[in-house]
Formats: sequence, structure tokens, C-alpha cells
Amino acid sequence: MQLKVSDQIESKVSSGELSGEQASRFSAFVETCNQDFMTHPVITRNQFCKWFASGAADRDIVRHFIIQFSVFSNLFLIAQLLKVINAGSLEGMRASKEILANELGVIFHKPDAQAQEVRDKDQEGDPEIVSIEGSVDGGTFRFRAAHFEWLLKMGAVMDIGFDDMGKRRNGTPATLFFCDQLMEIYGNEDPNIAEGASFAVENWAAAGFWKQLVAGLEAFKQVEEPKLPLAFFTWHDRIEEQHAGHVMDELEELYFTEDFDEEKFLEGGRRMLDGVQAFWTGLNEHRIAAAHQAG
Ligand SMILES: [Fe+2]
Repeated sequence: MQLKVSDQIESKVSSGELSGEQASRFSAFVETCNQDFMTHPVITRNQFCKWFASGAADRDIVRHFIIQFSVFSNLFLIAQLLKVINAGSLEGMRASKEILANELGVIFHKPDAQAQEVRDKDQEGDPEIVSIEGSVDGGTFRFRAAHFEWLLKMGAVMDIGFDDMGKRRNGTPATLFFCDQLMEIYGNEDPNIAEGASFAVENWAAAGFWKQLVAGLEAFKQVEEPKLPLAFFTWHDRIEEQHAGHVMDELEELYFTEDFDEEKFLEGGRRMLDGVQAFWTGLNEHRIAAAHQAG
């Protein structure tokens, strides 16, 4: 996967909005992002996700996976709140609140986008159809639209209780390292570092790991647990798909703001990707150890 400068840059140069020098500086920066971020192993070769997609995970591995994901999902709320608090602009603060409030259960509101019947189900928080577009502004809050509650439903089918999910005490050192790095870097007080981390996280998410997880869980569901609800994962896959396209536009906008600092941005991104990598390496080492024990 490679990042590409959009065509609108050229039209901005011809309209005089940007100088040729600015445009080529931006292109060079995008190239650096390609080298620094897009070649990172967590994006190019995520061993755990590749293995998981093949459907090889047994019940114990899937249980462990759901528990670790629940710790990440729940502790991510703290990182996201820090991002709201430390936002560099009102616009950035609102964008972060969209994510935080949606995580907690505010359904994205998109006026008149759907038929009444679908809208009613959507407003109940059913993750099979709950909206991936719109704003939390004017949206409805439902307890059961909280992403963590979707994971609890998966846990219930897999005999994982409320007490066994989402807390620090349920996390492995690798998972906790990832969550702490999210708070430290993604939630950083310096917006340049935080934005670099956001950009890296978004590119990681767009690299297709949700699809690999869905494929593995579908295989497991078919053979082992027909009642397993997958909506937490299918919903996130749907939203990432539509979000991937916006990432470059956001970078372009940020790059030409006055306080943008290339070095800090790159540092935030690189460190964040290392944190993400730790999470997946932890899961991969766990499944390899489990296989050795079984064998
Ligand atoms: Fe989420």
C-alpha cells in the first residue's frame, strides 16, 4: 500500500492557492511517510492477522483474542479522551469527540439517509446496521450501541464474563504496552506528535486487518460457534473502508497549517506503529506458545 498525493494538489497550484515549491515539498513529505510508515512490518506483514485469517484459531485462541481486544477497546477510551483534551483546534476537538462519543454509544446521525424501518433499528443500536456515517451531533445515545457492549455480547457466547473483559488486569504486558503507548503518543499534548500517531493508526487500520479478522472469525463461527455475533468486527471493517479515502485529504490540510512540524509528526507515527506492533506480536507469541503446548 502506497500513499499518493491527490490530483487536487495540481489544481491548487494552477489556481494559485499553492506555490509549485509548496506542492513539491508536500510530495517529498508524502514520500517520507511512505518510507517511514507504509513499510512498517505491522502494515506490510502482520503475522498474527495473516495466520488468523486462515481460520486456524481454536476456541482458546479466539477467547484470548477477544479478551485482549476488549482491553484495547476499553482503554482506548482514555487515549481518545486525552486526544479531545489536547486537541490543537476546536475543529480537531470536535473530530475527536465524534470518535469518543460514538465509541461510548452515540449513533452517527445522518438525516433522512435511510428508510424509516432501517432508521428505527439503527437507532436501537443494532450493530448489524448501525450507521457508519454522519455525526454524533443530533445522534441518539444507546447503551447497547457502545462498541464495548458489542464485544461483551461476543464474550457472553464464548463464556467470557464481564469481569474478564476490558480491564487492565485482563491485559497481557504486550496489550498494556500498546494501550499505554496510545495514551502517551496518540493522546500526546503536542498536536504534531498526536497527529502523526493518528495518521499512522489510520493507515494501519486501512491496511486491511479488519477483513483478516472477520475472515478468521467467520471460519471459527461456522465450525465452532454458530451464534457468535461478529458485528463489532464487521462494523469496524465497514467504517474503515469509507474512512481510508479521507486520510490523505486530512494530511494535506494539516501540512499547510502554520504549526506543522514534520519531524515530530514522523516521530509520533513511527513510535505509534511500534506500539501497535507490540499488540500483534503479543497475540502471535501467545498462539505459537499455545500450539507448542498442545503439540
Ligand atoms: Fe470502535
